Amino acid sequence: MAKMWAGRASGDTAAVADDFNSSIPFDMRMYRQDIRGSIAHARMLKKQGILDGHEADAIVEGLNGILRDLEEGTLQINLSAEDIHMFVEEVLTERIGSAGKRLHTARSRNDQVALDMRLYLRDEISQIRELLRNVMRALLAQAKANQDAVMPGYTHLQRAQPIVFAHHLLAYEMMLMRDDGRLKDTADRMNVCPIGSCALAGTTYPTDRAFEAEELQFSRPCLNSIDGVSDRDFCLELLSALSILMMHLSRLSEEIILWSSWEFRFIELSDSFTTGSSIMPQKKNPDMAELCRGKTGRVYGSLMALLSAMKGLPLAYNKDMQEDKEGVFDAVDTVKMCLRVFAPMIEGMKTRKDKMRLAAKEGFINATDLADYLTRKGLPFREAYKLSGQIVAMCQERGIGLEDVPLNDYQAYSPLFSEDVYESIRLEECVKRRISFGGTGPESVAMQLKAVEGFLAEA
Ligand code: ARG
Repeated sequence: MAKMWAGRASGDTAAVADDFNSSIPFDMRMYRQDIRGSIAHARMLKKQGILDGHEADAIVEGLNGILRDLEEGTLQINLSAEDIHMFVEEVLTERIGSAGKRLHTARSRNDQVALDMRLYLRDEISQIRELLRNVMRALLAQAKANQDAVMPGYTHLQRAQPIVFAHHLLAYEMMLMRDDGRLKDTADRMNVCPIGSCALAGTTYPTDRAFEAEELQFSRPCLNSIDGVSDRDFCLELLSALSILMMHLSRLSEEIILWSSWEFRFIELSDSFTTGSSIMPQKKNPDMAELCRGKTGRVYGSLMALLSAMKGLPLAYNKDMQEDKEGVFDAVDTVKMCLRVFAPMIEGMKTRKDKMRLAAKEGFINATDLADYLTRKGLPFREAYKLSGQIVAMCQERGIGLEDVPLNDYQAYSPLFSEDVYESIRLEECVKRRISFGGTGPESVAMQLKAVEGFLAEA
């Protein structure tokens, strides 16, 4: 096929090479950003007197027409074009004639694609941050409703110490707040405009890159044209922020899967976010959570793929870099889908406080509190720890809980025990006594809830 860039070549490229080279099946999603960038470019060329005013106006009008027709579906993207940049330019030239051929003055597809990706991902990041906030809102509502739900906190997936469910959910809120921070940082650092870097070295035309950057709402033009066309850090930063975010969703998914099993029964997911089995009529499967857990791998994969694609590239642009798109786009789509499913799944989740309490009653999770009790009465913690361990062993043998040990038996271990031991090891009391900053005690939980509310109230 004859190419716009067929400056030197005499022969046509092979069909198989065209297919191999083409990126339009996946970069066509950037058509709005491509057109927006071109409009800003035409305006700059006009302002600088590089393009004749009438021609620049015709270009802008033509581009707006293409955008309108694409949005309305009256213009179809031609998948045999090489990429979205070529397609838009080809249609423009078809429509307005030779003026269309002047649009590519003082730019190259190298800076154009770097620009389009930044514009595109900037928009996606703000959508992702909005969706992330919806998940945070759903978690917040659950946390508020479960401030009194005593459950076992775990280490090594062994019952460890009593906590409230709100505290556990708030741990995820902290993760998601950091995720939001990473996305914001990524967007801020990404917000530097590469257009005008041209192929790699800049241009001989008297361009105004600051004007173009401002038109496109970037904070400034990039300082180095070689970096402008060869930098894909912004894709990598986004992929790594998304990977960490998915890791968090995946951990929560794993817990949701565990909690909704018959072994735990701490929660019940709503019918709208579970599936049945084709042969087992009783089944209620947490497929959505499983899929979020499963999809985490492909987001990590995209990060690894792009890191690997970039690691050996000499400056400046290399066609390898076209490989940035599918992975980043897939990651963005995947994360958005997971967040969209997660918010209502959390919102509709029923908690079973009775089951949590029951689990908390078994497993001696108040053993630390028993030791703390003795420590408060004057015993050094290490000795108290040892004594409590012996009492736990005795209880296990007898098949009873710490609260069922008669006072006499306690006193046989230490004269420091008195009637108030029972109140000290009551689960609700154990939680209440965790008064340290950031602990599971009610004041700390209230403070955390307020922090999350404050975060969600900002913008
Ligand atoms: N489709 C290309 C990409 O995604 C656009 C840049 C092409 N530049 C070039 N010199 N062939 O990277």
